[in-house]
Amino acid sequence: MTKSPRRAFVAANWKMHGTRWMVLDYATDWPEVPAEVDVVLCPPWGYLDRVRSVLDGKGIRFGVQHTAIEPRGAFTGEHAAEMAGDLGAAFAIVGHSERRRLFGETDEVVAGKFAAALRAGLTPILCVGEVLDERRQGAAETVVATQLDAVMDQCGAPMLAGCVIAYEPVWAIGTGETATPAEAQEMHAAIRAKLVREGVELADTVRIVYGGSVKATNAQELFAEPDIDGALVGGASLDAVEFAEICCAAA
Ligand code: PGA
Repeated sequence: MTKSPRRAFVAANWKMHGTRWMVLDYATDWPEVPAEVDVVLCPPWGYLDRVRSVLDGKGIRFGVQHTAIEPRGAFTGEHAAEMAGDLGAAFAIVGHSERRRLFGETDEVVAGKFAAALRAGLTPILCVGEVLDERRQGAAETVVATQLDAVMDQCGAPMLAGCVIAYEPVWAIGTGETATPAEAQEMHAAIRAKLVREGVELADTVRIVYGGSVKATNAQELFAEPDIDGALVGGASLDAVEFAEICCAAA
């Protein structure tokens, strides 16, 4: 199968992991990765500045795992998308299933955060995905379409043109279960077809990446699929060498 000319995109979602020392070790262990892959690290907010300062210049860009909707104000404990930009981030994960499930982020909130990322000049990495019951009921595509619609309705379909979409079946996150390459490919193709139908300009250049128990051992077969443009990696991204291997597999 011929791969598309879309640039490969691999992002690390460290979730709530890391220490100051781990950040230094990560920078020491980081090997060279081919320049044709876009590599993004999303550490916890508190480590963003340190991660950027020790890894800058290694061909890596940076992102945050969540932001507030508002640009500033009396929102104790929150961080604005603008602050991520100020700290040198270029990406924001939006709508991760853990934010939706554990922190009650509705489709409407997710759309607000997508708009906030764009307002601040960040590229949103929009996460969508179904839970196991929804897949068993044959509703996976409908669920994902509804999640995309919520963002398109609030922000306008053209706004999806420059973003990255991460298809992350919830049942595959942190479980060791991965969607088969064929299952993931089917959903990625459905997402891309929807973007084209909705008139998203340059829908063919939007990167759609897969997330859910991606590891160095299964990355290659996922990336061989024509519509899988890379990955959003959780657990396996905490190890610099393994994460770099996944990035190399995407090249
Ligand atoms: P995982 O997480 O790779 O640990 O399954 C992926 C994610 O939640 O983005």
